Amino acid sequence: MSKWMYNEFKHCGVDYSDENQAEKYDSLHLTFRNYEKEFGDMLDFLALPNTQEMTLIDLGCGTGASAFFAAKKFKEVFAVDVSEAMIVQAQKKAAFGNVNNLYFHIGGFLSYRHYAQAADVIITKHALHHLPDFWKQIALFRINKMLKLNGSLYVCDVVFNLASNNYKDKIDKWIDGFDKFAGKKLRSEVETHIRDEYSTFDWILEGMFARAGFEIDKKRSSDGFVTEYSCKKSKEIEYQDE
Ligand SMILES: C[S@@+](CC[C@H](N)C(=O)[O-])C[C@H]1O[C@@H](n2cnc3c(N)ncnc32)[C@H](O)[C@@H]1O
Repeated sequence: MSKWMYNEFKHCGVDYSDENQAEKYDSLHLTFRNYEKEFGDMLDFLALPNTQEMTLIDLGCGTGASAFFAAKKFKEVFAVDVSEAMIVQAQKKAAFGNVNNLYFHIGGFLSYRHYAQAADVIITKHALHHLPDFWKQIALFRINKMLKLNGSLYVCDVVFNLASNNYKDKIDKWIDGFDKFAGKKLRSEVETHIRDEYSTFDWILEGMFARAGFEIDKKRSSDGFVTEYSCKKSKEIEYQDE
């Protein structure tokens, strides 16, 4: 591997490789998230009613918030994450729920190799911002190669839609909101996110989708920061890993 290759296993911001962090992830997130409802809303947003014969890849699956429910709806699910500690939590859930069509891989956007047939659907939730922009584009090139033509790509992440003169107030107001519904721990994680992780502008991310052969079908955001994209792979691109 080239010396200049990004090391995606070295976590920026919140350290998800830490076992403690992984063990506490669900108890923190379940104070303000309902994973099952989120997954149902995702399928509605992607307009995917019949998924029983489809395969899905979840990149940055974490503790299996989406992958666990995806396994109940899809034929096969490949759950990928750079953190072994997060995967261990997801595996416990799968074992407890008697799920046997969920395959776990320790790897990431830049290193996971999908040896099975190209997938029908690829999802990634709150994970792509762990890569700096150049590497996000490489990740999207790689996603193109793992997905069937006309397959669906779902991306949910914090993206910035901000003018130069109002970014401070908007970010402060958004972060203040977290105290009310999820407490100080989440507030501190969101501050870390803005300061140390690599969320980007919407216009940059949307340009990257286009360059990686994706068309955006739908975009929605409830708070102006967390943004969901439903994309279709509209063309094959030329790309090969080194
Ligand atoms: C905020 S958690 C989101 C987990 C899950 N998708 C969810 O919705 O709860 C971010 C996850 O992305 C993973 N991650 C960070 N960098 C990654 C990379 N380059 N490739 C794949 N996963 C990555 C982290 O280990 C962590 O599990």
